Amino acid sequence: MQKVILDVDTGTDDAVAIMLAALSKDLDLLGVCSVNGNRGIEFTTENTLRVVEYLGLADKIPVYKGCSLPLVSTLTPGRRDGIPATGSMDKNNIHGDYVELPPATIKPQEEHAVFWLIDTLMKSEGDIILIPVGPLTNIAMALRIEPRIADKIQSIMIMGGGYREVNITPSAEFNFWVDPEAAKIVIDSGCDITIVPLDATHKAVLSLDDADELEKDGGAAGKATASFIRHRQAGYKIWQPMEDINTVPIHDALAVCAVIDPDVLQDLTSTYVDIDIAGGASDGMSICDIDKRYKDKEENVKVALSADKDLFSKMVKEIMCGQA
Ligand code: BDR
Ligand code: CA
Repeated sequence: MQKVILDVDTGTDDAVAIMLAALSKDLDLLGVCSVNGNRGIEFTTENTLRVVEYLGLADKIPVYKGCSLPLVSTLTPGRRDGIPATGSMDKNNIHGDYVELPPATIKPQEEHAVFWLIDTLMKSEGDIILIPVGPLTNIAMALRIEPRIADKIQSIMIMGGGYREVNITPSAEFNFWVDPEAAKIVIDSGCDITIVPLDATHKAVLSLDDADELEKDGGAAGKATASFIRHRQAGYKIWQPMEDINTVPIHDALAVCAVIDPDVLQDLTSTYVDIDIAGGASDGMSICDIDKRYKDKEENVKVALSADKDLFSKMVKEIMCGQA
């Protein structure tokens, strides 16, 4: 079993990602760290606890509360006008404040997510994959406090950024935009990094028919996934309609599936990616040098520009129905 740590800002698609990582027979989920993002840290932590408790895995999967603000992006006046990066924005109803699961009766661990991450990685044999699917604040902070963790991380599978696709501003994807400095620190860390951007997640959509199937054949996790797909589709069809309006991306779930079976990612390219941290109109933008226009930049990540939709939906159904 592959050891993994999830870092989430739960969120409806984070919730599906947690369920996949917790239920996949191929993964050993060591713990889940929460971070500010889709909502403030109290919400994303509560939502994470809800998912773990709903699965009946409270004793097995510890939840660690992480950073409550981006590293620096909220400090500059004007940089976050209109869309605050403290998780209180409600531009759409894709997530809601709370995921629709019973309130958690369990609590997060005492230790802060960043210190648990450092400790766990330093004691490891270099066999842990990180799967951050929210703003990269916790991972960047851990790298700054203890840079030696970079040599201990097996690899990092990041959901974030976009090459041709964006969602929060005309130039940026949400996770990278909330904490651009954190994204830059992680991408430049020298770790083995794969980025699953919007270009890939918009290909790996699930449909309302998939939701019906999951509701019928899946257990508790299938039913919850079905309701998240419907909730998201209702928001996406207004906010950012997909080519087929009955479908919706479940971004974070694709990153988990990519660790289980890398074939779910397509058009994987080694390239140099930079993050705009200048605080201007393209703040948080991921600049992907796919065509190798920079002559002096070393490739620092792999980026997936597409995904196998059928394999993705098959994996989600098999895992949620207890067959994988
Ligand atoms: C990312 O932003 C969040 O809203 C989602 O949970 C996902 O991680 C997509 O841009
Ligand atoms: Ca997320």
